[in-house]
Amino acid sequence: MNSTMKIRYIGDPILRKKAEPITEFDQKLKHTVEQMVTTMHLEDGIGLAAPQVGLSKRLLVVDISPIVKNEKPQACINPEILDSEGECVEEEGCLSIPDVMEMVVRPESVTVAYQNVEGEKKVEKLSGWKARVVQHEIDHLNGILFIDRISPLKRQMHINKGRIPATY
Ligand code: NI
Repeated sequence: MNSTMKIRYIGDPILRKKAEPITEFDQKLKHTVEQMVTTMHLEDGIGLAAPQVGLSKRLLVVDISPIVKNEKPQACINPEILDSEGECVEEEGCLSIPDVMEMVVRPESVTVAYQNVEGEKKVEKLSGWKARVVQHEIDHLNGILFIDRISPLKRQMHINKGRIPATY
């Protein structure tokens, strides 16, 4: 019942599509969220966006409990960044781009509006790791990958080593 989903890798066109808003907050959506959380845990990820499992929908799951205490899995549906502050640099990776880890500059904190799995509207100010993961996953919903945010020189090095296809 709670089966896992297949990860889509870089080069798959779905990773470059702008995902569609979710309008139905039904049992099927709850099941999709459960499957995504299971898949994220199995793959040792701390975030996963729906396009990464072949669904071009505005849905992401995050669970930073492996690195921050007292956290639990959370789903954000139709998320939108309302405001951002500061700047920080951290090393990022992505389940869809295995073997690539690079430093990425992002705002340190973000205010995000989203809906939960029941369709209730929420606004949350995030900082630290959660802010970083949620920003990375929202990028996925807009067809943006973290390698778009690294230096062209570093990106070319990964292409030369065959970790990123020449047309990514
Ligand atoms: Ni990713």
